Amino acid sequence: MAEKFYLTTPIYYVNARPHIGHTYTTVVADAIARRKRSLGLDTWLLTGTDEHGQKIERSARQAGCSPQEFADRVSAEFRGLWDRMGLTYDDFIRTTEPRHKQAVQKLFALIRDNGYIYKGSYTGQYCVYDELYVEAPPGAPCPDCGRPTETVSEENYFFKLSAFERRLLEFYEEHPDFIRPETRRNEVIAFVKSGLRDLSVSRTSFNWGIPVPGDEKHVIYVWMDALANYVTAPGWGSDDPSRYDKFWPADLHMVGKEISRFHCVYWPAFLMAAGLPLPKSVVAHGWLLFEESKMSKSRGNIVRAETILEGFGALKPGLPRAEQDLFGADALRYFLMREIVFGQDGSFSFDALVQRYNSDLANGYGNLVSRTLAMIGRYFGGVVPDPVGHGGTTQASSIPVEMPKAIGAFAQSFDALDFSRALETAWAMVAAVDGYLTATAPWKQAGSVTDEQQASLRATVLYTAAEAIRMITALVYPVIPDAAARVWAQLGLGDIRKADLKDLRWGGLEPGTKLGEFAPLFPRADKETITRMTELEQKNNAPAIGKAPERKSAEGRISKLHSLIDGLAVALTESTNETAAILAFESAIAETLREAGGGNAARPSSPPNLAPGTQNPPPTAPAVAPTSAPERKIGIDDFAKVELRVAQVKVAERVPRADKLLRLEVDLGYETRQILAGIAEAYTPESLIGRKVVIVANLAPRKLRGYESNGMIVAASVEGGRPVLAGFLEDVEIGARLK
Ligand code: MSP
Repeated sequence: MAEKFYLTTPIYYVNARPHIGHTYTTVVADAIARRKRSLGLDTWLLTGTDEHGQKIERSARQAGCSPQEFADRVSAEFRGLWDRMGLTYDDFIRTTEPRHKQAVQKLFALIRDNGYIYKGSYTGQYCVYDELYVEAPPGAPCPDCGRPTETVSEENYFFKLSAFERRLLEFYEEHPDFIRPETRRNEVIAFVKSGLRDLSVSRTSFNWGIPVPGDEKHVIYVWMDALANYVTAPGWGSDDPSRYDKFWPADLHMVGKEISRFHCVYWPAFLMAAGLPLPKSVVAHGWLLFEESKMSKSRGNIVRAETILEGFGALKPGLPRAEQDLFGADALRYFLMREIVFGQDGSFSFDALVQRYNSDLANGYGNLVSRTLAMIGRYFGGVVPDPVGHGGTTQASSIPVEMPKAIGAFAQSFDALDFSRALETAWAMVAAVDGYLTATAPWKQAGSVTDEQQASLRATVLYTAAEAIRMITALVYPVIPDAAARVWAQLGLGDIRKADLKDLRWGGLEPGTKLGEFAPLFPRADKETITRMTELEQKNNAPAIGKAPERKSAEGRISKLHSLIDGLAVALTESTNETAAILAFESAIAETLREAGGGNAARPSSPPNLAPGTQNPPPTAPAVAPTSAPERKIGIDDFAKVELRVAQVKVAERVPRADKLLRLEVDLGYETRQILAGIAEAYTPESLIGRKVVIVANLAPRKLRGYESNGMIVAASVEGGRPVLAGFLEDVEIGARLK
């Protein structure tokens, strides 16, 4: 029986339409699935949409429809796009489907029956955007995304996450490949080591979710609901669990790096509590950046895959629309897998996309295929020539020897998820074959040879090139499936989906094979393609790229104001820090007014009325210093004296009897330092472990509360003097200097 391979993408929230960030994950998963299938594995690829939770409920309200209608619409957009792109998912789960809801209730009940869920009450901060409970004082922003958190106070069911600390650490130890890459593994381990607190797994303040079995005023926490999709889709908890029995545990959960904690800590703990086997690995990739920051709806810097399908589709005006889409999808797929170093953040731009397409697909692979097949047409009537007996001529090439080596190197890199290196290897072979054609110039009649010799030279050269193309095409099929299928057919080999691509041996191309019909593969793209895509993006999207995000509708703003007021009311009832709550409220209102286009609606000029007994906060420093008098400016030499470096927090703990101080140990790559930082009121020690911060590395040591502090952490000082740590949107190496 064939070995099985079960892989998953995250299920995407339906609060926003798909963009190429979501596409990236799904394309990578699709390419892996295609390769596994082509190697003969019984493969199952699951994707879908995550449709419950407060965020979706609010988005639906803003859009003026029911959450279910809203979810139906956006989920269909995701699925429709994956279909347009020819992505080969085997199942698409929606968390609002009965098959999922029933099974999630069973899972909840099972974990509760096993003694890992109990009832308690929770008062604390919640980030609706990340659907995440955060440890932060009322009014503080979410440490993950920086958006305002809301105070929630509810009677909840709790999951005994704390009971799994040791078992999780043992599991990571015994399964070193469970979390990849290494950086994510270290972060997760540091997070678990810093201590796990029980997790609230139900909510009562809204009802767009799956009811807790037996206590229906609660809905199940959206992450417990969502993560369970990986087992509910193949049928766990249903009348027919055969697919679950066959495919679980998953071989690979592919996720973006921001959700690795949910997949590497919560999910295994839920499964342990339910007594179910754990997935074999979680792989976290980096972010796709546009204009240097993570693509997101709220930043208004989104690029949609549809734009690329249309932009590239226009290069093939004669093709039916569905085929144009597949052609455009290949261009995007190739770019994403070749240009982005998997695991790291990478930038997207239309210029880079077109450049890559032209150099590697149009001029590289496409050109090689068309010159080879055209010559076989011209000299051999479109029939693959027989090289036998001619190998010993002056055209003897190293390609038949190099090709199997390249196949091995490609496989090694691809299977280690280093897609960009794998493609580099394949394109090195494209260049080698191209060079061989140019060097042997089979189109030229060399003066010293007879016609017969010339024909045999040509046969050897063109057979070698065609056979190399066959092998390269089989390798790159998972990445550019549409183009590969066309080349396969042009080589006269029929339907690539039916071909056995497992055993690629030199000589597999039969001489005498009649080539298929020839058609150009990759027309060159030019500036016009870039302009077309840029314009399409601006036209199709709200907000348009490169422009300020479009203003919210009046209803949207009213709904946001309502939720801000709700949040303030809760904060004032529950909070011990009214000042912070009022200030957070004030700045959120100012932002909403700015969105409304209220001209000088920035900050009110006078401080808000504060509750009796609270002190007026110190005035906030303006974000940009006022145009300074010349004497306040410094020269570059002065700036160069300050050594700012990136460091990673390894240890963080409170300093006894010092409410504001944390003792940190930070790794600078070349050494570890102890630093005392006055940030304890804004950050919990555990939220800092693994976080990259900026430090002043050459500050003279000083003593604080008996500890030596070697350096200073850089933070912005915002309303009320609250520190907000400086950080980076892209992954930056530890020790890197800021200059
Ligand atoms: N619904 C949760 C996941 C639940 S899985 C049980 C969620 N959804 S999401 O819509 O926010 O999608 C997040 C995923 O989309 C990321 O983890 C990543 O796979 C992909 N990406 C979204 N934006 C991205 C980029 N800008 N760059 C790369 N991937 C991105 O979180």
